[in-house]
Amino acid sequence: MFDAAKLVNPIVAGLKPSGIRKYFSIAETIPDAISLGVGEPDFITPDHIMDAGINSLRAGKTQYTANNGLIQLRREISAYMERRFNLSYHPEKEIICTVGGSEALDIVFRAFLQPGDEIIIPEPCFVAYPALATMCGAKVVPIKTVKEDSFKLTPEQLKAAITPKTKLLLLSYPSNPTGGVMTKDELEAIAAVLRDTNIMVISDEIYAELTYGFEHTSIASLPGMRERTVIVSGFSKAFAMTGWRMGYCCAPESVFKYIAQIHQYIIMSAPTPAQYAAIQALQNGQKDCDYMREEYNKRRKFLHTELCRMGFDCFEPEGAFYIFPNVSMFARDGEDFVEKLLDEEHVAVVPGSAFGDSGKDHIRISYAYSIERIGEALQRIERFVNKRK
Ligand SMILES: Cc1ncc(COP(=O)(O)O)c(C=O)c1O
Repeated sequence: MFDAAKLVNPIVAGLKPSGIRKYFSIAETIPDAISLGVGEPDFITPDHIMDAGINSLRAGKTQYTANNGLIQLRREISAYMERRFNLSYHPEKEIICTVGGSEALDIVFRAFLQPGDEIIIPEPCFVAYPALATMCGAKVVPIKTVKEDSFKLTPEQLKAAITPKTKLLLLSYPSNPTGGVMTKDELEAIAAVLRDTNIMVISDEIYAELTYGFEHTSIASLPGMRERTVIVSGFSKAFAMTGWRMGYCCAPESVFKYIAQIHQYIIMSAPTPAQYAAIQALQNGQKDCDYMREEYNKRRKFLHTELCRMGFDCFEPEGAFYIFPNVSMFARDGEDFVEKLLDEEHVAVVPGSAFGDSGKDHIRISYAYSIERIGEALQRIERFVNKRK
């Protein structure tokens, strides 16, 4: 008889289920539950972007594209990176259009990590990073970032974590889940540590458009860093396009050739209608992106003010659309808080432990929800914490 468990790759069998989904399955069974959990815009893709995707289908553009994406899209991405972040990437030799930022992360990890290698990942971090590295057999070296440092990686921490086996550093700012952002000077201090090494940076800049009062800086724009950095980004967060599955990576030519090889075999090409929609987003979508940023900013300020008033120890997020309060004054840890909040007040949020052990005293609340929904959830949260004061 067939037994898949005897055949499965033990690394895959050993992966923990993502801690994000667990409470949403429960919340779905509670009729008046409010979820502030999911990390995706509540906005629908702007009409003109949607139309571009639909019209491409009507015009018969239903085939594969070139492996690395439509050349027109790669040219738009190149122009966008130049215009917004002062970075120069060759459309044909340095840009790959991928299935979300998710695929971009996967192909870079796979191209460089093998068993025994080490990858440094500042924590708390996006759930996919440790899983992807583990699937390559690599060792994840987490660095705990803390509120006192605004959840930023410090050069001292980085220096202490580097060993002869370190191959990659994953940088992810603006951060999911903390909302931390690194300034140019802070990135310069990190770059100064890296320049003497052969370590490559994967810079996940998927939230680059969502910073509040800061200009986003890419570490790749600093002297000597472009040649050792791969930028991962995409359309999901900036243009409210999560379901289109459209991302990209920008890599120096020396790196591009390896990741393009994997992409060509596993994906062939990113979804064609999504590529046409992405061209439209880059040509005419900046105003939509600016509008959504302003809306997130209002929600961010509201949430932060209210949570502080209720007595939470809460870092004011500077980017992305998450807030990451410490809940240890109200519960044993984040999981305990999340379970009881869902049970007593029917509000679903994510325990910080989903983003690594260093997040365990926290919860992540997403503010990619309407202000009305956030307001209702806050009333319930206040009732919940008042019982624990
Ligand atoms: C930090 C970070 N990187 C990458 C992704 C992947 O996004 P997508 O595959 O939709 O582009 C996400 C999604 O939540 C994220 O939060």
